[in-house]
Amino acid sequence: MSGTAERFAAVDVIRAKRDGARLTDEQIDWVIDAYTRDAVADEQMSALAMAIFLNGMAPDELARWTAAMVASGPRTGLPARARPTVDKHSTGGVGDKITLVLAPLVAACGAAVPHAAGRGLGHTGGTLDKLAAIPGWRAELSADEFEAQLDSVGAVVGAAGDSLAPADRKLYALRDVTGTVESVPLIASSIMSKKIAEGLSALVLDVKAGSGAFMETVAQARELARAMVGLGAAHGMRVVALLTDMATPLGFAVGNAVEVAEAVEVLAGGGPPDVVELTLALAGEMLALVGLGDVDPADALRDGRAMDCWRAMIRAQGGEPRAPLPTARERHVVLMPASGVLARFDARAVGVAAWRLGAGRARRTGRVSAVAGVVLRAKPGDSVRAGQPLVELHTDDPARVDGALAAIADGIEIVGHRDMAPTSRPLVLQRIAEP
Ligand code: URA
Repeated sequence: MSGTAERFAAVDVIRAKRDGARLTDEQIDWVIDAYTRDAVADEQMSALAMAIFLNGMAPDELARWTAAMVASGPRTGLPARARPTVDKHSTGGVGDKITLVLAPLVAACGAAVPHAAGRGLGHTGGTLDKLAAIPGWRAELSADEFEAQLDSVGAVVGAAGDSLAPADRKLYALRDVTGTVESVPLIASSIMSKKIAEGLSALVLDVKAGSGAFMETVAQARELARAMVGLGAAHGMRVVALLTDMATPLGFAVGNAVEVAEAVEVLAGGGPPDVVELTLALAGEMLALVGLGDVDPADALRDGRAMDCWRAMIRAQGGEPRAPLPTARERHVVLMPASGVLARFDARAVGVAAWRLGAGRARRTGRVSAVAGVVLRAKPGDSVRAGQPLVELHTDDPARVDGALAAIADGIEIVGHRDMAPTSRPLVLQRIAEP
């Protein structure tokens, strides 16, 4: 692979990281560039990713690594526009339909929200998969369509282009199959390289901690949030991160059409309190970052401006916001096995159940069912009685129900008294910004 014209031998870069050294700027620039043009083999990059996973990276080393990833493709500067521009990125959770409400809400408050989203993989859902449940809606937009919609509506949620940080696309696929996804420097550089390449200047991060998240402990999530906030600052971006709880799903609905329906309830001024709380917290941070901190986003939910913006956003992408959403042929209601207090309704277990019902994909190219999903009928902390509904399983394929039932059975705990249940932690655990 690496011929005589190459500046370094990949094996020397791997050895250096394996032995705990800081990679030099020249080594970093070379290895990312050489990997992008196939001059470093996948097996060599896998070994380097594992060495980074095990030994980490110094902050300045990570900043250089991220800059090299950005430089592996074009940097699409967002043109100056009348409204200030700001986006949100979530590290992924179960029942996370926040973007669906947040993008039109923040646009209704006067900012422009260009949101390049992805499709889901594994137990966390993808925003594009949820929106695709709306009849006629399309994710793929040309760059001109994207810009025009951002100016006319103020919010766009569309498919992320393939040209952004191409080194990340190759590396992420490799990490997925080599056990090197859950590494703070690799996740931070992967997420931030794409956001920097998009040309964003203000970004709010929702970094999730808990069983349904990449980062299960608050300490890991905090480390990831600090790394991403630092990378933003190193690249001239204003970034604030909220650490948020992902021990149990957000809201009641987990899937695609069922999550759109729940997001529309929030846009109509109702919906689950946790979804409303997190949406308003993130909206407040986004507005403050772009100088609109005196605008109260709760007003735009109450008076219907966010809903108007949602409808315009969906119509602009070919969807009919008032059309009925598709529904599943099978609904299986699971009953509460005992009376007491629901102490745990585990996010990962619910995510796996929804995925087994068909709401998520196992491979990047797989298809998802718009109608499959899980609807919780109780949340942790609720007093419950044996025989009352615990959860509804929605699917078009009854053969999938048993797998989902097994996941749910592992994910709940009912205790006899409230004082035996763990004390619930707040939804927003911490705010992290550059000092
Ligand atoms: N999302 C990304 O884009 N990259 C990661 O490494 C993890 C989540």
